[in-house]
Amino acid sequence: MAGVVIRPSVIADADVVRDLRLEALRDNAAAFRSRYEDLQYWTRSQWEALAAAPATYLAEVDGRVVGHVRGGLGDPDEDQQRRWLYGMFVVLAFRGGLVGPALVDRVLTWARDDGGASLFLNVATSNGRAEAFYRKMGFAPTGLVTPHETREQLWFTEMSRPL
Ligand SMILES: CC(C)(COP(=O)(O)OP(=O)(O)OC[C@H]1O[C@@H](n2cnc3c(N)ncnc32)[C@H](O)[C@@H]1OP(=O)(O)O)[C@@H](O)C(=O)NCCC(=O)NCCS
Repeated sequence: MAGVVIRPSVIADADVVRDLRLEALRDNAAAFRSRYEDLQYWTRSQWEALAAAPATYLAEVDGRVVGHVRGGLGDPDEDQQRRWLYGMFVVLAFRGGLVGPALVDRVLTWARDDGGASLFLNVATSNGRAEAFYRKMGFAPTGLVTPHETREQLWFTEMSRPL
């Protein structure tokens, strides 16, 4: 595979972020908290805000965007040294290669630079591939499994790793 370039997403990436995010939700409905049915009605300014959100990264191979991830904070009342990984997605043709690890590595670096001590994420209990991928990247289940706020069949395993 040609080199993978990880770069911050900027406001001008709104269209590509929208296309990638909608593709992710369409093809992997049970992997994410948000739903295609809701995000398809987002306005341009909502996509611009997501594209320009801090610690949002895109993976490019030969100039084509093939993956997305975002780092962020969790609830204000939780341990302030926790950082979170959100919205991980690699397009089908680039799975099983260097893109996924490069995106996670970028968020690990962001989380360290931001003063975090551990990186957390939630993965759907039905998403065996993603959970196996995160284990390879050093994450382990914390023991917490929580339901989605409204979709009763959807449960998430919390995973974390030190930074
Ligand atoms: C999750 C994702 C980013 C992982 O990246 P990836 O490039 O596919 O990951 P990899 O192929 O390197 O690793 C997955 C591992 O799970 C294994 N695997 C595949 N299907 C599996 C399954 N159903 N159950 C358990 N393990 C599985 C693979 O064999 C591989 O392990 P190996 O490298 O030891 O062979 C990517 O699959 C993706 O974008 N999926 C759709 C969106 C998504 O689910 N996002 C996660 C939201 S939390």
